[in-house]
Amino acid sequence: MKFLVINGPNLNMLGTRNPEVYGSETLSDIENYITDHFPGHTFEFYQSNVEGELINKLQSCTELGIEAIVANFGAYTHTSVALRDALEAIEIPKIEVHLSNIHAREEFRERSLTGAVVHGIITGFGKQSYILGIQAAEQLSTTS
Ligand code: DQA
Repeated sequence: MKFLVINGPNLNMLGTRNPEVYGSETLSDIENYITDHFPGHTFEFYQSNVEGELINKLQSCTELGIEAIVANFGAYTHTSVALRDALEAIEIPKIEVHLSNIHAREEFRERSLTGAVVHGIITGFGKQSYILGIQAAEQLSTTS
């Protein structure tokens, strides 16, 4: 299967950004971990700090042959109607993931606008959230 693993703002700073919350591994470390974990799958990795660029990437899923999406939109999760609308229009398995448990932090992180238009959310398992997200998307695609 071909997956898009898409990461939003500030996730390019993993490794140095709040390591007590997000761990000490960089985004590249996590991407390599994912690739090593699923040798049978193909991954398109994408990160941007810019909302419109994330939307453009989502809109290119069909032409890229993407079969499932695993998304961590960072802070845009809590604020972006535009990303929510872009995601809603895509009809392939979509899983939202977070490194931290968004329900165990500040109140403003509890609400996920994008969470309403994905199949499910995995939150709080560090880099394992991505692995679980890919497994969930895989299951959805084989059972649908
Ligand atoms: C995050 C949680 C968000 O609230 C935060 O803004 C992030 C990272 C996570 O992976 O835990 O940037 O999405």
